[in-house]
Formats: sequence, structure tokens, C-alpha cells
Amino acid sequence: MQWILLSLYIAMANAMETTNLFDFWTDLFRPLPRNPREGFMSDYTPIDQEEFDFIIVGAGSAGCVLANRLTEIPEWKILLIEAGGNENFFSDIPIFAAFLSTTPMNWMYNSEPEQKACRDLRGNVCFLPRGKVLGGSSVLNFLIYQRGHPDDYDDWAKMGNHGWSYSEVLPYFKKSENIKISSLRNSTYHGRGGYLDIEYAPYKSPLERLFKRAGEELGYEWRDPNGEQVIGFSKPQATMRNGRRCSTSKAFLEPIRFRRNLKVSKHSMVNKILIDPRTKTSYGVELTKQMKRIRVRALREVILAAGSIGSAQLLMVSGVGPEEHLREMEIEPVVNLPVGYNLQDHVTFSGNAFIVNDSSLTVNDMLAASPLSAIAYLAGRGPLTLPGGAAGLAFTRSPYAMDDHSPTRPDIELVMGGGSLAGDLLGILRSLLGVTDQWYYRMYSSLPMRVRQNTFSINPVLIRPRSIGRLKLRSGNFSDHPSIKMNYFDDPKDLKALVNGVRLIQQVIGTSAFQQYETRLHDVPFPGCENVLFDSDQYWECAIMQTAITLDHQVGTCKMTPAGDPSGVVSPRLLIHGMRGLRVADASIIPRIPAAHTNAPVIMIAEKAADLIKEDWGMHRVTTNFIDGS
Ligand SMILES: Cc1cc2nc3c(=O)[nH]c(=O)nc-3n(C[C@H](O)[C@H](O)[C@H](O)COP(=O)(O)OP(=O)(O)OC[C@H]3O[C@@H](n4cnc5c(N)ncnc54)[C@H](O)[C@@H]3O)c2cc1C
Ligand SMILES: *[C@@H]1O[C@H](CO)[C@@H](O)[C@H](O)[C@H]1NC(C)=O
Ligand SMILES: *[C@@H]1O[C@H](CO)[C@@H](O)[C@H](O)[C@H]1NC(C)=O
Ligand SMILES: *[C@@H]1O[C@H](CO)[C@@H](O)[C@H](O)[C@H]1NC(C)=O
Repeated sequence: MQWILLSLYIAMANAMETTNLFDFWTDLFRPLPRNPREGFMSDYTPIDQEEFDFIIVGAGSAGCVLANRLTEIPEWKILLIEAGGNENFFSDIPIFAAFLSTTPMNWMYNSEPEQKACRDLRGNVCFLPRGKVLGGSSVLNFLIYQRGHPDDYDDWAKMGNHGWSYSEVLPYFKKSENIKISSLRNSTYHGRGGYLDIEYAPYKSPLERLFKRAGEELGYEWRDPNGEQVIGFSKPQATMRNGRRCSTSKAFLEPIRFRRNLKVSKHSMVNKILIDPRTKTSYGVELTKQMKRIRVRALREVILAAGSIGSAQLLMVSGVGPEEHLREMEIEPVVNLPVGYNLQDHVTFSGNAFIVNDSSLTVNDMLAASPLSAIAYLAGRGPLTLPGGAAGLAFTRSPYAMDDHSPTRPDIELVMGGGSLAGDLLGILRSLLGVTDQWYYRMYSSLPMRVRQNTFSINPVLIRPRSIGRLKLRSGNFSDHPSIKMNYFDDPKDLKALVNGVRLIQQVIGTSAFQQYETRLHDVPFPGCENVLFDSDQYWECAIMQTAITLDHQVGTCKMTPAGDPSGVVSPRLLIHGMRGLRVADASIIPRIPAAHTNAPVIMIAEKAADLIKEDWGMHRVTTNFIDGS
């Protein structure tokens, strides 16, 4: 049965190279019944020197929201430019999230070799997947919908970013949301009737029940972590529509595909922002499409939504960045700003496998590849609907939590996966993580195949990291991937907090809920850590440094601060300090990473950005949620 998954994999990887034909047949394959809100946007190629009111660079989590909200003003003509093409039938399948990162839908960025993370991966290098497709990283992501703690946003406001406190951003979280979880429909923390569908995976993993009971045994409530309290155990809320991925492209772009004032140029790479160096005003962008170079003009603004890597890189190649570094790269500086600094991310430890004595509890390759699962999926049900395989989330506080006088604020998250790396017989998860086959066999080959299938994982995530990285250019050419130094665990407290997460997981496994199935840790030592006493703190520090990987939440490279703060790149209105006509609205503006998965925060940022832009151009707020034009 593995051949089914394997052939899907090959079909997709090959077909995605031939985009236009592929757009056509994957559209046909999108499951019926077709929702009238869904359908691909047509592609538009701008003519050289064509003028638009606004040009949005990047149709990712933020870009799709911006395009929707700004075209609510009928007299504004908008161009949305995206390097990738359409999503498809496969990218809709929630459990296959990891596998998308092995396809051309990923930009395939790598980190510089890390000192304290990814040590045993290919060349000490961490993979940093980013979406290159309409919907951006919301197409590659694991669908988890999580907002963070109120203090995360109150901190932004305390840094001087007026308008960004929790009470001011909560309405924007709610605005985009269409909560479909019946028990939360009346919650004051959730929104109804927005574009973005939030639901629980229709599939209930048998492990979910154990996870809930384990949490209760340890004194945690089973709750809505996007509600009043964050700390506790829960079932993941997901950006999902009837068991399928609800990317921002599906949510925000497809229903407005007939708006006449919106043009979307796909397979188009922006190489440069056009800036008048005397007035420091941006007036357009230069893009490459089908080998042709096209310049388009923005009458009002250029808005960067190219993500934490793309936006920072585009600014720098266009002369906006640290002066010294730009000169090194032979770029004439226009505005001296600390672009690329303040790079923050969430790191997780994903090598542990827990073995249960009952094969009906876990989700593995075999179950995922079975025809029954495929049939269930077509009806919007079954194990393929598990968001990236995740079946439980917990938020907790370690003794290393920063002393912020906020005992309700978590610093460690636990993500329970329905399967584990040990059960990755086909090697898809391994390719995502960058784990070598050699490593895999050294770790797990002592387990019989059958037992490898009876494993699941609980991974700790460091959600309030102290370590900070930096992104730099390798050259002045946008096509050259930037040099990205993550500096994971640069602050030793980060490592200690994550070890504490491992200890908490051991407590979860030790509960009678999990012991009912004789749950135990697979205790073959990690390669490279054999000489350290097994299960000592030093052992786990070693294991984490060998295999810690990113949760793909890179943020912060174009930090938002009030004017006059030398660490900032954009203002609280998201305009580039010292410039005109240029804004950034995506994950890169985040001044301090929230204790959350970052998709929902980015969508919130884009919702708020759209209102800021409307205000600045004298337009009244438009808060409709409607399907029009069709
Ligand atoms: C594998 C993975 C798993 C994740 N899991 C989760 C999760 O479960 N939950 C969660 O909340 N978050 C998750 N995230 C993170 C979340 O998806 C991102 O933080 C969020 O999507 C970032 O949004 P963005 O708009 O800043 O950037 P993106 O969504 O990455 O959008 C940037 C867009 O700009 C385009 N672009 C870039 N440069 C150019 C250029 N020069 N010209 C034209 N187009 C360009 C890109 O192709 C892309 O479409 C995950 C991310 C990844 C990669
Ligand atoms: C939500 O509120 C409505 C109207 O007040 C009520 O009829 C309904 O039962 C409530 N639903 C839940 C799940 O509490
Ligand atoms: C798993 O272990 C429990 C407790 O020892 C036992 O009751 C149960 O029958 C076992 N299940 C299987 C499938 O062996
Ligand atoms: C940038 O690099 C790409 C790929 O290496 C190359 O095709 C392109 O010509 C370069 N652009 C410039 C302006 O040198």
C-alpha cells in the first residue's frame, strides 16, 4: 500500500514543474462538491510601466488578506505579485503537510551551519522551508491555529507600538475568523462569518483521549488555548474547511476572484523595489516573468508581504538596510536601517518516539496510505485530516520562564503527533527534517517494522526563545539565497528550558492514562550522545543539539518600533522609517515573537495593516465579509 503514497509523491513532484497544465488538472481533481467560494484566480501579466494604485509583493499569509481588504475599495486598482503558482489537490490534504516542503512549492532556504542545533542533520544545516505558491507558507504549514498570550501583544505596545495591544488586536483576529467549532461559536474570543475557517480535524485520534486524561492527572484543564487562558491541554484548532486545508489563498483570494480591480501575476519574481534616492520614495517594482523583465508603477504604495526572508532580502537588494553591509555587497545605500537583525524563531526537538502496545492508537504510513483512508478523506473525514499529523497541544510554564510577573504565560508548548519519526518508513518526514537515512537506521532499526508503526511523538517547542539570529545578503542579486544565521540556543537558558520540556513529556507519559498501554520511550541513545549518561540533563541537551529543528516560525527581520528607536525598520503604521510609499506587512514586522504558531498572528497583522492603509488614504473602514461578483 505504500506505493499509493509514493506514487502521489512522484506525481506531484514531477507535475509541479509543468505548472500550467498542472493547474488545469489539479483543479479538476479538487474534491466535489465544489464550494462556490473556491476556484483558481486567473493569471495576469502586467505590461511594462503599467500603473496600479497599490502593488503587493507576495501572496502568502499576509498578501492574500491585504489583496482582499484593499480591493474592497472599488476605485483602488491593485496588483498582487507572487513567485509561485496554484495550490492543488495534494496540498489540501492536512496530514501531508510535511511532504509539501520537499516539492517546488518550497523556496528551499537553508541556514548557515549552526553551532548548537541541527548538528546531526545534513552538514549542521537547518532546513528553513517557506511557501512559494499562492497562499505562501499557509500552504506548507501544519494548519495549527494559535494566537499566543495577551501579554505578547501588550509587550509590543509597551515598546511604543501604539495600537498593537491585545485589546486592540483581538478584533482583527476575530474579524478574519469563521469559527466552526460548535462549543466555541458563542465565545467572545472567536469570530463568526469571517473568510478563514477554523475547525477541529474531523478525525479523533485515539491518543487524544489519553492526552486529555494525562493532562487532567497532572492538574491541567482541557481548554480553548485561544480563549481566556492559554496554559492547559487541548485539541489543535486548525485552518481547515471540511477536513481540507484552508490556506489564505483559498480563504481570502478565491472568493473574490471576480473583482475587477484585482490582478494577480503568478510565477513572477520581484527582483527589486524601485526607489527615488533623492525623495526616498518608492514608486514601483521590477519583476521577472517568463524570462521577461517588467517594471510596474505604484501610484500610492508598494506593500511588501514577501515574508521574513523575502521582505528583508528585497529591501536590502534595493538599498534599504545596514549601510556597511550593503556597501560590502556593492549596493548603493538609500536608507540606513537595521534590516535582517532581530530574527527570531521557535525551535523544537522531534527525535523522541514513544512505543505503545496497541497498534490501533497511532497514525502511521500504513494507515495514511491505505485506500480506506483515501476514501474517507474524499468525504472530508479520516486520519488524513489530522493537521500535519498533530493530535494534541499543551501549553505549560517551565522554571526558566522569564520573570515577567505573568504566571499565566507559557514558555513551553508540547505537540503530540499521531505518529513519530520512527514510523516514517517512506522517508518523507526525514526529508523535511533533514535527517539522514543513516541516522534513521541507527536510531530505529533495532525496532521491528511492526513496532515502529506503534509509535507516536510528543515534541517540546521553545515558544519564548531568548536567542536571536540575523539574515544577511550573499550578493545584490535577489536570486541568490540569503545567508541566514539562526543562532539557536545561543542563550543557554533556551536549551535548559527545552530540556525541561522533555521532563514534562516524561511526566505525561508516566500518567496512568498512558501507562494503560505500557507506553515507553524508545531508549536507543541518539547518535553522537552515546557517551553521555542516558536520560541525564546533559544527555537531553546533547540530543536536542543533535536534532533540534525549526517549527518554521521565522519572524522579526523588519522590526516594528516607534520612530527614533535605532533597532526598528518600520513604524507602528508599518511604513519604512525615513521613507515614503513603502510599507511592510507580514511576519517580518513582529518585534518580539509571540508564544504561538505564527500564521494567525500574521493574518491579524495584515487585517490591521489594511485598516491602517485605508485610514492613511482617507477611506472609511470597510468591515464587510461578503462573497461578491460571481
Ligand atoms: C513547514 C511549515 C509549517 C508551519 N506550521 C505552522 C502551523 O502549523 N501553524 C502556524 O500558525 N504557522 C505555521 N507555520 C508558519 C506560518 O505559516 C508563517 O509564519 C506564515 O505563513 C508567514 O506568513 P508571511 O505572509 O509572512 O509569509 P509567507 O506566507 O511565506 O508569504 C510570502 C509570499 O511571498 C512570496 N514571495 C517572496 N519573495 C517574493 C518575490 N521576490 N517576488 C514574488 N513573490 C515573493 C512567497 O512565494 C510567498 O508566497 C509554518 C510554516 C512552515 C513553512
Ligand atoms: C449560543 O447562543 C445562542 C443564542 O443565545 C443559543 O441559542 C445557543 O444555544 C448557544 N450555543 C452554545 C453552544 O452555547
Ligand atoms: C497493553 O497493556 C495493557 C496493560 O498491561 C494490557 O491490559 C493490554 O491487554 C495490552 N494490550 C495489548 C494489545 O497487548
Ligand atoms: C541573478 O542570478 C540569476 C541566477 O543565478 C541570473 O539568472 C540573473 O541573470 C542574475 N541577475 C543579475 C542582474 O545579475
